[in-house]
Amino acid sequence: IPVQPFDYVVFGATGDLTKRKLVPALYHRFKDGQFDEQSRIIGASRSKLSEADFQTSVRDAINQFVEKDYQDEATIERFVKICTYVPVDASKPNESGDLGKALRNDPKIVRAFYLAVAPDLFEPIAEYLAAKKLYRRDARVVIEKPLGHDLESSKAINDGVAKIFKEDQVYRIDHYLGKETVQNLLALRFANTLFEPVWNSAHIDHVQLTVAESVGAGTRGYYDESGALRDMIQNHMLQLLCLVAMEPPASDEANALRDEKLKVLRALRPIVNGEVGKNTVRGQYRGVSSEATSVAGYQDELPEEKKGSRTETFVALKANIDNWRWAGVPFYLRTGKRMAERVSEICIQFKPIPHSIFDHAEGAPKPNKLIMRLQPNEGVKLLMMIKDPGPGGMRLREVPLNLSFAETFAERTPEAYERLLMDVIRGSQTLFMRRDELEAAWMWVDPIREAWDRSSEPPQTYTAGTWGPSGAVALIERDGRSWYEDP
Ligand code: BG6
Repeated sequence: IPVQPFDYVVFGATGDLTKRKLVPALYHRFKDGQFDEQSRIIGASRSKLSEADFQTSVRDAINQFVEKDYQDEATIERFVKICTYVPVDASKPNESGDLGKALRNDPKIVRAFYLAVAPDLFEPIAEYLAAKKLYRRDARVVIEKPLGHDLESSKAINDGVAKIFKEDQVYRIDHYLGKETVQNLLALRFANTLFEPVWNSAHIDHVQLTVAESVGAGTRGYYDESGALRDMIQNHMLQLLCLVAMEPPASDEANALRDEKLKVLRALRPIVNGEVGKNTVRGQYRGVSSEATSVAGYQDELPEEKKGSRTETFVALKANIDNWRWAGVPFYLRTGKRMAERVSEICIQFKPIPHSIFDHAEGAPKPNKLIMRLQPNEGVKLLMMIKDPGPGGMRLREVPLNLSFAETFAERTPEAYERLLMDVIRGSQTLFMRRDELEAAWMWVDPIREAWDRSSEPPQTYTAGTWGPSGAVALIERDGRSWYEDP
């Protein structure tokens, strides 16, 4: 469905996010006809580029980051023509180009500002826009992490933006919410009658969320200040947890959904002081070197002045949600860099059957599991017991009822940013985080971080290419459970 024509101003137009994610996403939406030449993409940054320079960098970004099959010269040509550039330095208005001239003064043209810059520039840019009279009450501003490193700094960033923009104009991106499979979780839960009646502590034993990456962290400068708790748990993984755990919202209207997510965040049992050691494990990968492979450890990748860093590249934790639906159902979360493989999935493990009539059968009935694979090989799988075919008596076997998206659907799966960038133009905040959600998430992770900072113990080490430190296994095995592994 085509969106209204827009002027999309991208601050940080020469940065990595613009090249890797924003330009390719906008190109795909343009190619699919979701918008056309009536719209403009206006790059802005401190660099003194010409329009032609910027257009060349847009073309390069497409060549480099769009799959070859989708690179079509005629479309690229048309797309590049709607891209223009204005040098802007919010702290030096007099040395900046005229952004106002590049924007159209027509209320039918949606005005959006994407701040793909460091958060300390959000407030100066917002104030610059207001001073230059480029702010409109219906304009939208898009921001994304790191939105602070704790509750206090996150409040300061939001206050800075809120000096100019109202909450209904602010689009806080968590790109996990734009992933097809994450939205599918909403469809699975609320477009079927099958799951919701059993989606509670009477039927579910526990939930596991895993976001494992095979890449390392070391060369990305910001990572050492951040660590896995801030980089992945505070945002992406808590958002996933909310979508699994929230009550059914009355509609998919942004605040209806966000109200329910907020209730989950507020019901998370705080992990504080002595509880931190019991319920969380942090790890850092060490290198491997053998004849077959050689992978650097996190310490080896750090510059000299950062050696000895205690930043965690892995976190596993056990969360509890103190409400009626989830009483007694732990949520085990784990995420890390340089793990055995790249896999993100949600595993809902149901309770064992209450009584077995198969005492004499081979193979004991195993509890059902519902697995949502977010990436790669997206799909949904229900593990269930059946009778093994054949005359040899009752033999029970666990088999998957398997839906693979790649096999079922011919369409290409759009990237998260494609959906999110267009939602901004549509004015839909459903898949964006509200300020109170963000702050509730910080409130929950801050005490964990503080306890780690106070602790004299360093993170446990784990070998690159494994599933994390032994403590992560112990964390779940203590409860008589184990991490789900694809059979
Ligand atoms: C980002 C983190 O938000 O998400 C990165 O900062 C991480 O450290 C990335 O690699 C993972 O995203 P995806 O879409 O590849 O799972």
